[in-house]
Amino acid sequence: MGNWQTLPFGAVLLEQMATSSYRDGQWSEPRLVPSDRMDISPAAHVLHYSSTCFEGLKAYRWRDGSIHAFRMDMHVARMCRSAALLCLPEPPAELVARVIRMAVDAGRAGVPDLPAALYIRPTLIGTNGSIGSAGKGAEEALLYVLVSPVGPYFKTGAKGLTVLLEQAAWRTTPGFGMAKTGANYASSLRRIMQAKREQDADQIVFAPGGIVQETGAANVFLLAPERVLTPAKTEDFLHGVTRDSLLRLAARQGYRTEERQISADELLRWCATSEIALSGTAAVLAGVGTVIADGVTHQLGDGGIGPVTARLRQALVDIQSGTAADELGWLTEM
Ligand code: COI
Repeated sequence: MGNWQTLPFGAVLLEQMATSSYRDGQWSEPRLVPSDRMDISPAAHVLHYSSTCFEGLKAYRWRDGSIHAFRMDMHVARMCRSAALLCLPEPPAELVARVIRMAVDAGRAGVPDLPAALYIRPTLIGTNGSIGSAGKGAEEALLYVLVSPVGPYFKTGAKGLTVLLEQAAWRTTPGFGMAKTGANYASSLRRIMQAKREQDADQIVFAPGGIVQETGAANVFLLAPERVLTPAKTEDFLHGVTRDSLLRLAARQGYRTEERQISADELLRWCATSEIALSGTAAVLAGVGTVIADGVTHQLGDGGIGPVTARLRQALVDIQSGTAADELGWLTEM
């Protein structure tokens, strides 16, 4: 299995990345280049005005050696939406898919065996050098796809995560949370680091004004033996691909699924009787064992991973790893 279980998520990059650049209204033919350096102007738009967005998807090496990416189309579509929100040149979906395929193909030998996976990180940055372009979208851009063999993002094992419920601060600017952009992660980082330092929390559940949105790196789910709930999509948080997949799987398994506004008070009431979990490509579905709110610690169950969380997570992993049939057509052979 290698040491993917313990190695920090994303710490190893395979040697080559695939790129395509945009200039004079044209995207270049994709090509492979070394993944350990990049030549851009210190005045590049991205370095000053944060014109950048990215995606995170995974590919799995099945037991027969074949490699399959999970919900690639949905990730590509979200990347194009993020590009539009950031006034970046919007790459055609077909091009993004081709650059992803090229990166995975070049890294084929480095795709680890299950339960590890290849994490694929398409990234788009504004590259034209102009420090005066604060009021103008990037006119030149680079699309590049990094690939990294990974194990679990959260390394808590069978222990549930500890999350801090934050009812005042926003994770990011209202209306912009649905863009997958570094700025959104940057704006929540200070609070997340403070929560780690002072409360030993793994994540913050942002619920500004008492309405649950998401954590810094994952969507939030409430789970009970018959019901699965998650906040309804707004422009204020990321529309997770794993979130969508889990909702659809839960419905197929007979759970009543609800996408609606969830208050911080409801989430706290949920602690007494049911389960909370965080979803994302990196997180998969990670159970929460403890919620800290206003200095009070609420333990869920025995502080471990709840049975509904474990069952739903397993249903997802079974499809991704080829153990269960891909009835919804979510996998693309690479
Ligand atoms: C993902 O789940 O793919 C993400 O982008 C989260 C990231 C912070 C690792």
